[in-house]
This record gives sequence, structure tokens and C-alpha cells, in this order.
Amino acid sequence: MAADVQLSLLGRTPGFPAAVPLVGTPHRGASDLGALARAVEECGRCGLRAGATHVVPGEGNPAARLMLVGEGPGQQEDLTGRPFVGPAGQLLERMLAAIGLKREEVFIANVVKCRPPGNRVPADEEAAACLPYVLARIELVNPEVVMLLGATATRALAGKNLAITKVRGQWFERAGRMYLPTYHPAALLRDPSKKREAWEDLKKVRDYLGLPG
Ligand code: URA
Repeated sequence: MAADVQLSLLGRTPGFPAAVPLVGTPHRGASDLGALARAVEECGRCGLRAGATHVVPGEGNPAARLMLVGEGPGQQEDLTGRPFVGPAGQLLERMLAAIGLKREEVFIANVVKCRPPGNRVPADEEAAACLPYVLARIELVNPEVVMLLGATATRALAGKNLAITKVRGQWFERAGRMYLPTYHPAALLRDPSKKREAWEDLKKVRDYLGLPG
């Protein structure tokens, strides 16, 4: 799409929420993932850092073809500084294994990098404050596919009014990159009947990336 220009660390991407202020955000000048992680570590753009044990900047293959974006750190993630290491993370690893991928092969990130108290859903302002970091991360890793895990990631990266139940499994393209919203693994743990649809979504990613079936 002609109007869908490249995401720039110093610019604004058409199609992304207009409120995302990419100009002058703390990641400006971050030339690699390490610099971005340091910018995240020093961040004070919202109140979540004050209550967090560790910032969870995301981890994985810096040249991953697939990136997964979740909501935000839970208790285990807050204690370890690593994304998706609790029960939802264990399910996520099994989901990846089902399409032949190890977690080290993908990049795993979250909309917010600091645990919201009591694992509450991040407020819109907290998600908006942290969003530039995940946008920068997407640009730096440059994956072919970004899977949006659950409602918070879908609202933050696809559109505020989108319901995960309506848009899951539907590809969309931004800046030449494919995005696929799907259920969050924690939702699958709460309601295993959703796993069938999640498997359909995983197969779409597997086929898009040309991974063996
Ligand atoms: N849930 C998330 O959304 N992210 C994590 O890192 C862990 C659980």
C-alpha cells in the first residue's frame, strides 16, 4: 500500500494510533536492541516502574522472523526480568513447538515492560506510554510476522476499539509487515475450548513463514 510507509524511529507510521508520539521519545537514537533495552530500563514514562522489581524489555532472536507481543509482565516475569516464563509462557512454548519453533528462535515482547500491580490490565495511558518501545523493537528486529497475543496487544497495535474475539485470526498489514491477532495463552489456560482457534492461527503463521507442517 503506497501510503503505508516504512516505520521510522523518528517518524510516525500511518495506520498506527495517532496518539503514539514517536518523535522525541526516549528510544530516539537507540541504534540497537541493547540501547533500546537500556532506554527501557531508565524509563519513567508511566507509574508502573515504581512498583516493578524488574523491567522486562523482551528477549529472543534479534533477527527473528516471528515476533510475539503479549500484554505485560506477570509475577514470574517481574521476578526474573524475562517475558513469558510463568504458566502462560510454558503454554506459549508448547504452541511454538507445535509449529516447529523454539522460543530462542522468535522474539518475545510485551506492550508494557513493567508489571501492573496485581496483574491488572494496563491502563490505556500506560500502554500508550510504552508503545513506542515495542514499535521500535519491531522495527529493529524486523520480523515478517507479528502475532498479537490477546486484547491488550491487539488494542495497542491494531486499534483501540477492536475486540479480540472479532479480529483474531485475521491478518492485517502495516508498513509491509503482517500482523495476526490471536488469543493470549493465559486466555487459553482459562478457557481451553479456545485452543482450537488458536491452533488455526498458529497454522496460518506456520504456512505464511513456509515452515514445515
Ligand atoms: N503475560 C504477558 O502478557 N506477558 C508476559 O510476559 C507474561 C504473561
